[in-house]
Amino acid sequence: MEPHVASLLRHRQVVPSILAADFARLGEQVAAVMDAGARIFQVDVMDGHFVPEVTMGPLVVQALRDLVHERGGVLDCHLMVERPERQVASFVTAGADVITIHVEATPNAHYVLQQIRAAGCAAGVAINPGTPPEAVVPVAELVDLCLCMTVNPGWGGQAYIPTSTEKIGRLARLLPPTVVVQVDGGISLETIREAAKAGAGLLVAGSSVFQALDPPAAFAALQAELDSGSTAAR
Ligand code: DX5
Repeated sequence: MEPHVASLLRHRQVVPSILAADFARLGEQVAAVMDAGARIFQVDVMDGHFVPEVTMGPLVVQALRDLVHERGGVLDCHLMVERPERQVASFVTAGADVITIHVEATPNAHYVLQQIRAAGCAAGVAINPGTPPEAVVPVAELVDLCLCMTVNPGWGGQAYIPTSTEKIGRLARLLPPTVVVQVDGGISLETIREAAKAGAGLLVAGSSVFQALDPPAAFAALQAELDSGSTAAR
């Protein structure tokens, strides 16, 4: 993992998800939100098998790579795909800095996470709302982040699942301090502080950023809310 990626992952921040962006103006919107301070962007990859929807792939990572990297940013690829071991190489080549796989998506999670790190990317493991935190313990030493889904994966714009807050806390206590807890789904001005207080360091926000009338201002407001919370860093 590149040193600047490692450093960025340790900084508590809002991570805009491009799933909610206007794809006719994707580069323009990403650049504008970066001007407002965003540095990590989540690319939500869905294959129509692990989740019902199909979204985007390595081409979108490749399209954004130079724009984001030139501004010191990071592309965080959330693979909601079956057997992600088949996709890792394509995302590495496309320019991914972080690759997160779902522990439910392959019997080979331990192998795939080693594959991601061997390729020089930061490795993440994600768990769905129905998966207990203990499922990530066998691979905790192989990851740089653990993504706690606070909605069921497949769609943006869903409501934060309230029981997620307790689960975030359980994950934060289970995982070594070297692993950053990331949350994803329904993060807004109403939920961001609760999730951060429970132990989340990276908070993915799609609709509350890119569906806002002014995405850069929406990002800045979320980050300010995060910064204002009296939450102890993990
Ligand atoms: C679900 C997606 C969404 C997205 C964020 O599969 O992963 O959670 O990133 O969506 P919002 O912020 O609109 O809930």
